Amino acid sequence: MAAEQPTATTRPRPGTGSAAGDATAVAHPNIALVKYWGKRDEQLVLPWTDSLSMTLDVFPTTTRVRLDPGAGEDTVTLDGTPLEGEPRRRVTAFLDLVRERAGSPLRAVVDTRNTVPTGAGLASSASGFAALATAAGAAYGLGLDATGLSRLARRGSGSASRSVFGGFAIWHAGQPDRGGDPDLGSYAEPVPVPVAALDPALVVAVVDAGPKAVSSREAMRRTVATSPLYRPWAASSQADLTEMQEALRRADLDAVGEVAERNALGMHATMLAARPAVRYLSAATVTVLDAVLELRRAGVSAWATMDAGPNVKVLCRRSEADRVAGVVREAVRGGSVHIAGPGPGARLLDAAA
Ligand code: ADP
Ligand code: DP6
Repeated sequence: MAAEQPTATTRPRPGTGSAAGDATAVAHPNIALVKYWGKRDEQLVLPWTDSLSMTLDVFPTTTRVRLDPGAGEDTVTLDGTPLEGEPRRRVTAFLDLVRERAGSPLRAVVDTRNTVPTGAGLASSASGFAALATAAGAAYGLGLDATGLSRLARRGSGSASRSVFGGFAIWHAGQPDRGGDPDLGSYAEPVPVPVAALDPALVVAVVDAGPKAVSSREAMRRTVATSPLYRPWAASSQADLTEMQEALRRADLDAVGEVAERNALGMHATMLAARPAVRYLSAATVTVLDAVLELRRAGVSAWATMDAGPNVKVLCRRSEADRVAGVVREAVRGGSVHIAGPGPGARLLDAAA
């Protein structure tokens, strides 16, 4: 079965009721099975390595962008509260980029709503900037196709480049030192995966929904600058990617899980070796990791991955996800557990919706 086709376009569709200068988009988080960790260009958000992810069918972000001809500055609210400081600066800098491309001086009113905890290692920046890129691209009339949207979303948050697409997606780092425009070479695209045969689910164990003390951005910057383990991990991650693509092609869930788990643990090792160390994994994380090991010993295909936070996503078969969720629920006690499958790409909502 082919991967889901990209559904995003910033060109308002005739007959949908999308009004010029006013667009609403929805996008879902994605979880990387081969991680992005480390930029070679902070300004353009160009990574050192390729990464590969699954977009989820849970935790959507919905973002409305409305141009306001009378406004002297952007207004940005997240879950109904005005954004301030660095989160606001990231959104306004992103809108500046869109305005520059559109040749428009107009400020915007941005109303964004996450259903995923923000800043907890559950990829809110991915769904957030994929939704913002899709809505802002339409409101400012950029007319981008899905590849162009992926490049644009990347500038807001690297992982957002993958949430433009549904199902499985690969984000190409692009070729360093090959000349040409480096921005053009770094975008995500769908990976064809036999989803029915693979039957994948991610059981999301939320052990702590609170925001992280160190942002992903700062943590990866510090890791690249100071961790002696960074370069070896980046090199092995490229080999992981090749193995991952082959495992996905033959719908070998155990191989997919094995590569995903080692790639994630390796990424965390790079941060633990940074100076000063960044440690996102908590005692509760390790309790879930023990439960995953127990499941494997009992013959269940279950493999863990963690991002920049203590929460764990357990890759397993959809047909076994209820059993896995039951075991994980016992382990997290007080946390929450969600079952996610492959979800859709970013899309514009009808104005009337
Ligand atoms: P996470 O693990 O949630 O992705 P990050 O540290 O990578 O955590 O990113 C969190 C940051 O992403 C927030 O502080 C904010 O700057 C940005 N962000 C999250 N959600 C949104 C949104 N809906 N719209 C715009 N920016 C968002
Ligand atoms: C651990 O995409 O949030 O989730 O580009 O600085 O916004 P910025 O970083 P971000 O980093 C995500 C890192 C990760 C791994 C991944 O999603 O590939």
